[in-house]
Amino acid sequence: MGPPGVGKGTQASILKDHYEIPHISTGEILRKEIALNSGIGKISKKYINDGLFVPDEILIEIIQDYLIKFKNKEGYILDGYPRNLQQVEDLEILLKKLNQSIDVAISITAKKEELINRLIKRRKDTGRSDDAIGIISKRQDVYWDQTAPIIKHYRGKGMLKEVDGLGTIEEITKRIINTI
Ligand code: AP5
Ligand code: MG
Repeated sequence: MGPPGVGKGTQASILKDHYEIPHISTGEILRKEIALNSGIGKISKKYINDGLFVPDEILIEIIQDYLIKFKNKEGYILDGYPRNLQQVEDLEILLKKLNQSIDVAISITAKKEELINRLIKRRKDTGRSDDAIGIISKRQDVYWDQTAPIIKHYRGKGMLKEVDGLGTIEEITKRIINTI
């Protein structure tokens, strides 16, 4: 978990090789659906380009498919899910059904100015549609409004690990591995 630009995707893609487990990024999955112009892609596009969350019912269907697909793996990294309290509840019901559980919830933190700068740079480098300046700040607001409360939830369950997301990519990877 962590606000847009904090390095969830960057770190998860390194950790998936380190731990040899799949990386499930809901943002990446949705961007692929948009590129394919699928039914899910068509619905998701307008939400993503407005910096808003895609409906919870779509997300739980996607997550269920992936958790079933990876049920024989030794684990997986969820990046970008759950993202609000309803998704926490949906995930808990699904995990119970699949007889699985989460070991650790990692929250990566960084200053807002750093996050905005990283996303402005990425917009220049890759042209990601939701890295437009107005949408960058909207995504930050949505994070603090809807995602930040789930940190409290995982802290309350004793599952939360907090990691400083400022520094080089390698330094942050080491912090996460040490924490785990
Ligand atoms: P998603 O793709 O998850 O985007 P996000 O949370 O907005 O986060 P980012 O991917 O922008 O940031 P990140 O933390 O992964 O950082 P990254 O490693 O890329 O979601 C996109 C949208 O999809 C949502 O807004 C929503 O609409 C929808 N969606 C997704 N999941 C959903 C859900 N569960 N429910 C509903 N809707 C959902 O790094 C950012 C940049 O910084 C990169 O350019 C990177 O190279 C650079 N960088 C990384 N680390 C460092 C470092 N240490 N130093 C300098 N630069 C760095
Ligand atoms: Mg990401």
